[in-house]
Parts: sequence; C-alpha cells; structure tokens
Amino acid sequence: MSSRVVLVDAVRSPFGKAGSLYQGTRADDIMVRVLRGLLERNPKVDPKSIDDVAIAAASQVGDQGMNIGRSVSLLAGIPNTVPGYSVDRWCAGAMTAVTTLAGAIALGQYDIAIAGGVEHMGNHPMGDLMDPNPRYLAEKLVDQDALAMGATAERLHDKFPHLTKERSDKYALASQLKTAAAYEVQKIQRDLIPVAVRSLELGYGLATMDEGPRPQTTLEGLAGLKTPFRPQGRVTAGNASGLNDGATAAILASEEKALELGLGIKAKLVSFAFAGVEPEIMGYGPVPSTIKALGKAGLKIEDIGLFEVNEAFAIQVLSFLDHFGIADDDSRVNIYGGAIAVGHPLASSGIRLILNLARAFEEHPEVQYGLTTMCIGLGMGGTVIWENPNFKKGA
Ligand SMILES: CC(C)(COP(=O)(O)OP(=O)(O)OC[C@H]1O[C@@H](n2cnc3c(N)ncnc32)[C@H](O)[C@@H]1OP(=O)(O)O)[C@@H](O)C(=O)NCCC(=O)NCCS
Repeated sequence: MSSRVVLVDAVRSPFGKAGSLYQGTRADDIMVRVLRGLLERNPKVDPKSIDDVAIAAASQVGDQGMNIGRSVSLLAGIPNTVPGYSVDRWCAGAMTAVTTLAGAIALGQYDIAIAGGVEHMGNHPMGDLMDPNPRYLAEKLVDQDALAMGATAERLHDKFPHLTKERSDKYALASQLKTAAAYEVQKIQRDLIPVAVRSLELGYGLATMDEGPRPQTTLEGLAGLKTPFRPQGRVTAGNASGLNDGATAAILASEEKALELGLGIKAKLVSFAFAGVEPEIMGYGPVPSTIKALGKAGLKIEDIGLFEVNEAFAIQVLSFLDHFGIADDDSRVNIYGGAIAVGHPLASSGIRLILNLARAFEEHPEVQYGLTTMCIGLGMGGTVIWENPNFKKGA
C-alpha cells in the first residue's frame, strides 16, 4: 500500500501584473487553459484515468469559487467521472495540492492526479472579502502587522539587522538578472502555456511572456524606491514580489504508473513538511518547515544541491539563507530567478517552484536532491524535498 510519488510534468501560464494582461480574462479561464495545455503535452495520460484534480486559490469566491477544482476540471473537458476539489493554504495552495495528492498516491489510493493553483489578484485583491475575527487584535493574539504581508517583511528586517536593505536590493537585482538571462535562452518560455486574453483597450491578444520582469533594474533605481509598508522602511516594490495574475498545474503519479504508461519522470518526491512561526514574521516559515522536511528525509542541508525559494520578499529569502549559512548569491539558489521578477500569483506559486526545480534537475545531473520552499501568511512555511531522476554519481 505504499508507492513512490513522482512529478510527471508541470506548466504554468505567463504571469501578468494584477488586472493588466488578464484584465478581461477570468481566473477560471486561465486555469482551464493551463490544464488543457498540460494534458495536450502529455498525450499518454488518458484524462479518464485521472483519479482527482486538486486546485488551489487563496480567494475562493466569484471566478475562483464554485469549488474551483471541480469546475475547472469540467470546463477543461476532463470527463465528468473525474472528481475535483479546492485547496487553500494561501500562498502555499498549489504546494498543498501537490502534497495532499501525493499522500493519496503514496497510500496507494490514487495512481495519477492533477494539482494546480490560480490567483487573479486583479479580480481578488489580497484581503478582499476577508473578515478577520476581531479577537485577533482585541485579545492581542497577533499584532496588526501580522495581517499585512509587507509589514511582516519589515519585521524580519527588524529581527535581523545585519540583513540590510542593501542586501535585499542586491538580492532583488540578481533575481531580475537571472530571470532575464533565463528568458534570453528560452528557459522560461518552454513551460509557459499561451493564454488568450482580452483587453478593453487593445482587444484580443495572446499572453506568451511574464509581464512583471524588469531586466533594466539597477541598484541605484532600487535604492530610490518608496517603502510603502513603513516610513523609512526597507521593503519596496523592487525587493518584494508584485501583485499578479496566473495559474500553474502539474501531473503527479505513482512511480509504477508512470513507468507502466511510459511517462516522463521529472522529479521524485522525498519528503515534505509544513510548520508554523509567529504570524508577525511569517516570512521565516521556510526555516522550520525545511528543518522538519530534512529530518523526515534523513538529509542534511549540505545534501541539497538546488533550492527553489519563493521570493515573496528578498528579506525573507535572505533570512532563510542566513539561517542555513548559505551565501546571498549562492549559485544553487533560484537559478532562473524568482518571484521578485516573474511575480507571485499567491496560490499558484508552489508549482512554479517545482517546475523550475525539475528543469534545474535536467541541467544538473550531478545534483541528487533539491528543495522547494515558501512562506505562508499568518506565520507558516512549507518545504518539499525532491530527488533528481537524472542524477548520476560523479557527473
Ligand atoms: C510592494 C507593492 C505594494 C508595490 O505595489 P505595486 O502597485 O505592485 O507597485 P508598482 O509596480 O507600481 O511599483 C511601484 C513603483 O516602484 C517602481 N519599481 C518597481 N520595481 C522596480 C524595479 N525593479 N526597479 C525600479 N523601479 C521599480 C515602479 O516603477 C513604480 O514606480 P512609480 O511609482 O514611479 O510608477 C506590491 O507589489 C505588494 O504589496 N507586494 C507584496 C505582495 C505580497 O504581499 N504578496 C504576498 C506575499 S506573502
């Protein structure tokens, strides 16, 4: 009753700036196009044989409501005999869709499943329709800062004064430059599913590239930006992820099923963990979740050859790297850049990390293990450790 879980494939839509590229496009339509694109490029997966479809969104109302897992599955033309459900763990929604389905596969209950995530932050601004219980503040369960992600990032700067704004800006610049370099040699485009879009001003078009990257970024430019979350703060639009629209999806399977059907194997799941921290410093969550996931895998941080860390904020990545004694510019980290450049449509990002790691595995057969990790609002972190199927000892 126990199976190894593998990643067969993962794709995503181009990420747009909130309410810009996808201004006239519904969230569920972006998700549907990504699901179709994923199945089109994996013809050996018979849609009838999919055991479940789990789709995440942080805001589950309107075009992200109606049990988005079931509704996008039907809209994508997946047979109605295939069930679907919705997942929410805010930014780690798609990551949780992956780990939840992986549990079912590992237990031998599912052979093949689809995970995904979508967020249209243009249609659903962060906090939209949220009604935090007044007890949070009245009983001082959390400080007001815990409910504003940018403020939690400022708190991390307070906690770690040696991780300066200059270091955050330098990290952010590197993310932009790595993304630009990856775009230059077509390393991002190959996994983007083009999406039909409609703009009120421009009419119909096709989204084929991320809208957020700023390859012209300079340190001087970053230094001069406003600090919207605190006067004389350190977090800016340049060293934070933006507000974005986009969707991701992945096929997971048991190793036996993948081999039986002759499916490609892009990564093998080793372990995963979620953990909690003080909500006021939610960006620190990846530290305990990574310690936990490493422990479950029986691995040490030195065993990890590639890291995909979600860049909600530069300071939050730096605090993770600093904890583990990894340099700010370590070449194993986010080799194609990250969310500071391409964006972070909340619940979708977990699969973008896995997608990048799987591609990095192909380029690095000398690496046996990699990890994907991200921070999560209200004080959590999630980490998934993967094994490289292309690993060759001594490569
Ligand atoms: C930081 C934040 C408030 C900025 O808001 P925004 O509307 O996206 O900001 P913009 O893209 O308009 O950028 C603001 C300014 O910075 C400039 N800027 C942004 N990135 C830049 C860069 N890399 N180099 C130079 N200038 C840059 C813009 O040009 C703009 O300048 P302007 O005001 O002169 O037009 C917003 O992106 C945010 O809240 N990010 C965090 C998202 C988040 O919390 N996610 C969840 C994580 S847990």
